[in-house]
Amino acid sequence: MNVADFERLATEKLDAGTLGYYAGGAGDEVTLRDNVAAWKRWQLRPRMLVDVSEVNTATKVLETEASMPIMVAPVAFQRLADPEGEQAMARAAAAAGTVMCLSTIATARPSEVAQAAPGGRRWFQLYCFRDEAVTRALLDEAVDSGFEAIVLTVDAPHAGRRERDFRTGFAVPADVTVPSLDAALGGHQPVTVHEVFAQVDPSLGWEDVGDLASECSLPLLVKGVLTAEDAELAVEHGAAGIVVSNHGGRQLDCVAASADALPEVVDAVEGRAAILVDGGVRRGTDAVVALALGADAVLVGRPALWGLAAGGEAGAAQVLELLRSELELALALCGCPSPGEVTRKHVQRAPAPSVYSA
Ligand SMILES: Cc1cc2nc3c(=O)[nH]c(=O)nc-3n(C[C@H](O)[C@H](O)[C@H](O)COP(=O)(O)O)c2cc1C
Repeated sequence: MNVADFERLATEKLDAGTLGYYAGGAGDEVTLRDNVAAWKRWQLRPRMLVDVSEVNTATKVLETEASMPIMVAPVAFQRLADPEGEQAMARAAAAAGTVMCLSTIATARPSEVAQAAPGGRRWFQLYCFRDEAVTRALLDEAVDSGFEAIVLTVDAPHAGRRERDFRTGFAVPADVTVPSLDAALGGHQPVTVHEVFAQVDPSLGWEDVGDLASECSLPLLVKGVLTAEDAELAVEHGAAGIVVSNHGGRQLDCVAASADALPEVVDAVEGRAAILVDGGVRRGTDAVVALALGADAVLVGRPALWGLAAGGEAGAAQVLELLRSELELALALCGCPSPGEVTRKHVQRAPAPSVYSA
């Protein structure tokens, strides 16, 4: 029926280590919880007597056409959820007509994911490894495989303090290969999350963003921005897009929920770059709030993962279609025949405390 149902089904299926890794956040998980709650601190202001006999959820972000402004966030190690992993997710996203953003630390190569869903729209999420040759080879493979944008994640120079992983002793099992890590480590071995992030270059700076933006033939998005200051720097250094994100509450705990950080980023960018947001989007109405606050699209991480874990490719496709139909209905009931019709006037702050913050 809804994303929460898929979460329950996935929870029953996954082993404790994988579940903790997927569901968990950093520290006391304050931001993890607040990401979900913050969307509900806004109320919708629907407009009546608008012709909504035809509602079209389709949109275009940068040069990528999508059936809806809801896309699949980069999520690592998808083969832990389903034997077909990223290939199944790519086919589900293609079936839903939306973008899949493939993680650097995927359990399939960019070319394999491209082959699995040739008609799909794909973006590639990049972590810059300490070993530049490994990063370069990955980028080249993504470009050659028809990925349409690069999403550089900047909020993870070190792994967040994910205590669920410490408690379960989570490590990617030996029988699950992560091609990019094998290249970075020079061989295959079971790895913990800390060992993974030890391969990521913690010295990356804005100059590197500028170099990447000018050298890469694809548009560059910077993922993990939470402040007006960094949004400004991203635009100055050539970013075509910004993803307002706190990594699903998995990196620095006690930062702003994405919904709370979004308005200041939108105001700072003033239309100079595309703006996406992720974190805690669980309903079509959450996506409408994001659009009203100025986002061009949202990404969903865990919802797609719950779908994949609960029912493989079909489960992930069901979650995406569920969100699309929820969005379509919410747009219709708001008097907005398309995502582009949603404006800042379609939301107001919810009085707190209220049922909306329950
Ligand atoms: C299990 C898991 C793995 C993730 N792996 C990555 C990753 O490899 N790269 C990245 O940029 N973000 C990663 N993220 C963060 C997501 O891209 C996204 O920011 C976050 O999941 C959005 O929050 P949501 O799960 O509440 O939708 C991961 C998130 C989860 C839950």
